Amino acid sequence: MTAKTAKHEKTLSQAIRERRATPSFDGAPIPAEDLQRIVEAGLSAPSGYNMQPWRFIVVQSEEQKKRLRAASYNQGKVEEASAVIVACGDADGWRKDLDLMLYQGLEGGMPEGYAALARNSVPNYLSHFSTDEMHGWLNKEVMIAFTHMMLMAEVMGYDTAPMEGFEQPKVHEVLRLPMSYWVVALLAVGHLNGPDKFDGGRFDMRHTVFAEEFGKPLK
Ligand SMILES: Cc1cc2nc3c(=O)[nH]c(=O)nc-3n(C[C@H](O)[C@H](O)[C@H](O)COP(=O)(O)O)c2cc1C
Repeated sequence: MTAKTAKHEKTLSQAIRERRATPSFDGAPIPAEDLQRIVEAGLSAPSGYNMQPWRFIVVQSEEQKKRLRAASYNQGKVEEASAVIVACGDADGWRKDLDLMLYQGLEGGMPEGYAALARNSVPNYLSHFSTDEMHGWLNKEVMIAFTHMMLMAEVMGYDTAPMEGFEQPKVHEVLRLPMSYWVVALLAVGHLNGPDKFDGGRFDMRHTVFAEEFGKPLK
């Protein structure tokens, strides 16, 4: 199948309004430069201390998508999508990357005093995490990058599907991930095939948003 470029760019507010969790994809490959832009958007995301503990495996080959589908409760869209970006966090990333983060920060104008503080506070903060706390921290950091990618893809005219329906050990095996990796979510990217999903709507703001303290409505 020939690669399909996105038709037109949407504004961010249009992309947010129109995005749906895509039920089915047509499988046409994504041009490499489009995929690159989507991935780069994710890498531009903010992260705690700029530690960037995210790692992404981009799956496009038919064989790997088939295996990934089997590790994802047989969800058809994993195989149908043009690309599936498997978003992971590396629990050991901060140990390996602290020097690099500080080096790049100092190059970019990070004050020496801040660098000295961060050199201590990053290990102080992260080295005491239990496994569950580390996974919680990784979920938080990685999902911001994930969301940047999802919205960039939508802006570019692609359709996306976020997925948490997968089995951690099976995805590990298929992708041959290092033990320190934690799989956070899968992002399927491509072009919608058939009718789009229904719009399930959202709870009213009074149900989920408060002003100043719990229980007071935002006016
Ligand atoms: C983190 C996350 C995980 C999800 N996992 C799945 C999944 O495994 N399979 C699926 O069909 N939909 C999945 N969804 C899609 C949601 O069901 C969908 O976003 C929700 O129903 C709202 O619909 P909308 O995105 O079209 O507005 C997931 C969404 C998110 C944000």
